[in-house]
Amino acid sequence: MKKVESIIFVCLGNICRSPIAEGIAKREVSKRGLDIKIASAGTGDWHIGEAPCENSIRIAKEKGVDISHQRAHQITANALQQYDRVIALDDSNLTNIKKVGSSNLSKLGSYGFNNEDVPDPFFFPGFEGFEKVYNMIEVCVCNLLDELKD
Ligand code: 4NP
Repeated sequence: MKKVESIIFVCLGNICRSPIAEGIAKREVSKRGLDIKIASAGTGDWHIGEAPCENSIRIAKEKGVDISHQRAHQITANALQQYDRVIALDDSNLTNIKKVGSSNLSKLGSYGFNNEDVPDPFFFPGFEGFEKVYNMIEVCVCNLLDELKD
């Protein structure tokens, strides 16, 4: 099988969950000495050009990951084709990505969380849920990269 050289994480708005996944994955790729391009995007267009939401920036910063420089993008069929792996954060993302068209598609929760959705913290009241979301993303991203190590 072709070596995985690029991964894109895709959620709905690209301001809460996938920016955290991008930040963690970049840190873990570098920690593992891998050469994998990492990116993130949203299926929706509401937040194009915006920084991640305050709570995502805050939880990532508390864990030592700076995601404040990231800016939201929307997926396109063309962009998706440029990535070896497309990783959706939940089932509705999967459905939306399939409509745009993608192969090598999987869900982040399948790498350690029994294929659960990473819940969308945009709709949580307050900061509390972001810790759970961060931890879930971190476990799954690490497992995903461990699978690609050899
Ligand atoms: P994300 O969260 O998909 O984790 O970035 C959302 C951000 C914004 C919206 C929905 C989800 N929105 O509807 O604007």
